[in-house]
Amino acid sequence: MQMLQSSIGRKLVMAATGLCLVGFVIVHLLGNSSIFIGADGINAYAEHLHSLGPLVWVFRIVLLGLFGLHIFFGIQLTLENSAARPIDYVEKQNIRTSFGAETMIYTGLAILAFVVYHLLHFTMHVTNPEISVGVLPLDALGRNDVFTMVVLSFQKFFISAIYAGAMVALLLHLSHGIQSLFQTLGLLNGKTLPVMEKIGRAVAVVAFIGFVSIPVSILLGLIKV
Ligand code: HEM
Repeated sequence: MQMLQSSIGRKLVMAATGLCLVGFVIVHLLGNSSIFIGADGINAYAEHLHSLGPLVWVFRIVLLGLFGLHIFFGIQLTLENSAARPIDYVEKQNIRTSFGAETMIYTGLAILAFVVYHLLHFTMHVTNPEISVGVLPLDALGRNDVFTMVVLSFQKFFISAIYAGAMVALLLHLSHGIQSLFQTLGLLNGKTLPVMEKIGRAVAVVAFIGFVSIPVSILLGLIKV
């Protein structure tokens, strides 16, 4: 508790939760990429996840806790930082920073808005019930037809555009966030910092291309029902 009252303690929580969330994003990307195998790929993957039963709920609660802590301390640290510096720097040129670093709070909030929309869309089937509820709930093998739901969704340009915009926010957030979390965890020195900066950016770019390639492939008709 005392640790959480210090700003370094809160930064450590952000770094640890951020690292777990990056892990989730990578696993989710690998799982989603099974859509390139076709309906059998992604429907079997979703079926496998759902067959884990109560474990899925344990996983969801842990994930919610990670998101909650990361967002709470992220907002708190941003407010503290701006309160400590009520007047903005007149001259910023000497400070080594990047667009990704300066926009962390905005890209973070954009990702939060996206995740809420994403859950309403694919998990709770609220935003486009004509696609996900009742019409094609099961595939020929009696599995949840996640493939058809995703393809029919991304065939709508507006939905694909929302996802692409959110992936730009994710790209910026990860490109700074990954190297920043390793720095907070004390794993970087003068030599390793530039290497981690490159690795962080590379992971961010791979995640961006990987996620965006799904709606783009569907819009181009490369993946269809
Ligand atoms: C093209 C990009 C994406 C696609 C096609 C996609 C697809 C899906 C699908 C189909 C589900 C529902 C799984 C099910 O209930 O069977 C899901 C759940 C989820 N997605 Fe994504 N996703 C994408 C990007 C993302 C990103 C970038 C994030 C996070 C930053 C994310 C976070 C989540 C979360 C938190 C869940 C809920 C997991 C659960 O219910 O246990 N997704 N996604």
